[in-house]
Amino acid sequence: MTPKTRVGVLISGRGSNMAALIYASQAPDCPYEVVLVASNVPDAPGLKLAAAEGIPVFAHAHQGVKRADFDKIIDAELVRHGVEIVALAGYMRLLSDDFVAKWAGRCLNIHPSLLPKHKGLDVHEAVLAAGETKTGCTVHLVTPSLDDGPILGQVEVAVLPGDTPETLAERVHYAEHQLYPRVLATLVSDANGPEAMLDRVRSLALALPAAAEKLSHGSPGFYVEGGKFFAYFSYDHHHDGVMGLLVKASGIEEQAQLIENDPDLYYRPAYLGPSGWVGIRLDSGDVDWSHIEDWLARSWRASAPKRLAMLPI
Ligand code: GAR
Repeated sequence: MTPKTRVGVLISGRGSNMAALIYASQAPDCPYEVVLVASNVPDAPGLKLAAAEGIPVFAHAHQGVKRADFDKIIDAELVRHGVEIVALAGYMRLLSDDFVAKWAGRCLNIHPSLLPKHKGLDVHEAVLAAGETKTGCTVHLVTPSLDDGPILGQVEVAVLPGDTPETLAERVHYAEHQLYPRVLATLVSDANGPEAMLDRVRSLALALPAAAEKLSHGSPGFYVEGGKFFAYFSYDHHHDGVMGLLVKASGIEEQAQLIENDPDLYYRPAYLGPSGWVGIRLDSGDVDWSHIEDWLARSWRASAPKRLAMLPI
């Protein structure tokens, strides 16, 4: 079974969005799991709930600790639990630039308004004061400025006559609980999907000297100018749903050996198999990219004209 993406949730309070993420993750087809809930408020009610659900929790009061130092403490905990994506869920603390930079593209936040409207605190008061007839909630990627960053999803919520900040907050919470798990699941699936994988393979392959790309029998192929193909990105090529990288092994003996030693990782590609190419699965959920990089370099060297193959890479 494909391992699920490991999510760390940061909270400061009730943690109802955290709960929505946790309960949604119990669906067998949910692509993420919550592996840590951390807080800057040691008595945040959400921590008790998470612990009761068997999720590791961590708390550290932020008072008296410099922002950058505090974020290092949280970061170390995220790393210790193998967190891959950070979900802020009512985490009422500004993050240091270092933290934001480190988790860029992998840290998201939920905010109870239709951003870019009504950033910051006291959002529902501001919505009512502005006489809005609709409000909502937003999930976005975290960037250095508060409640900013690319929007990943929104749900609209009608403002009713007679709404108070409390009644509005309650209804927006319902919407948040629908939105957050859905957006997180999509982000995780896209990050492991063919487009993201091809992008990553492409950036490694084209970083090699004189490497270029062209389609070959419908698959993106990478070749050395003046030389031969050294890699192909293969996705669902034989309607088998398999996503993999094809590279040159030294021959069919090595190919057979690799597959025998690690049949979950390596496979024999249909057409190129007889010529000693080997497939490396990219759909296992936890791709070892330094291993892919090594294979690309090796395959490149075997395909490059002599004058290039001598180059150090
Ligand atoms: C949520 O409404 C969330 O959007 C908001 O805090 C609440 C936390 O509720 N976050 C922000 O305002 C961030 N700028 P919860 O603890 O029950 O999930």
